[in-house]
Amino acid sequence: MQTKIAEIADGIFRLSTFVPDIAPPAGFTFNQFLVLGDEPLLFHTGLRKMFGLTHDAVSRILPPERLRWISFGHFEADECGALNEWLAAAPQAQAAHGQTACLVSLNDFADRPPRQLQNGEIIELGRGKRIRYIDTPHTPHGWDAGILFEESTRTLLCGDLFTHFGDGAALTQSDIVGPAIAAEELFPYSSLNPTMGATIRGLADLSPRTLALMHGQSYAGDGAAALRALADAYDRRRTV
Ligand SMILES: [Fe+2]
Ligand SMILES: [Fe+2]
Repeated sequence: MQTKIAEIADGIFRLSTFVPDIAPPAGFTFNQFLVLGDEPLLFHTGLRKMFGLTHDAVSRILPPERLRWISFGHFEADECGALNEWLAAAPQAQAAHGQTACLVSLNDFADRPPRQLQNGEIIELGRGKRIRYIDTPHTPHGWDAGILFEESTRTLLCGDLFTHFGDGAALTQSDIVGPAIAAEELFPYSSLNPTMGATIRGLADLSPRTLALMHGQSYAGDGAAALRALADAYDRRRTV
């Protein structure tokens, strides 16, 4: 396995590891995102057993010990399994997440105390990069779920939203909603819940230009339209 690197927005790098054995024949990607700044941020640590690959990929962009912030969608192995390996490798690094993730998991699991973020709170990374934390409980899954929005590039770090198969180009302008619903059919991974459509439509109000997906290609284009279409698709599934 190798990890491919692509800059998907100014100063935001996608580190993508393709695993052909998951959902063959298309296969499946695990993507981390590195946001540059005076205080660089890594979104998703990657699996603990892939730490070597992820660490090597980050080191091709900056000295890994310069990482300052580590965040992720929710507490699961692919999102944060290597958190403590990263905290050891980067002495200034700190996990940052919402209240639920901190109280339920990170205050115990993380080897150093996390920064607990309020819904809507900003982390200033410097060099113009501003990261907003947004609670998205149970969407697409996990009580503690939350995502990040980088305001200067209007990049939404979507976590597991829009998960789809395959190993295409890092960035696409093609439809990602159809592939996301196809993946939902195969792995029913979302917690269909009464507020899911409203939560996703709330993200559309941010008018993102780039959607950075944990599993699948990132998307460049009308992010609001894609999010509203995804919300509609989930509302239909929820009422079947
Ligand atoms: Fe997940
Ligand atoms: Fe994931």
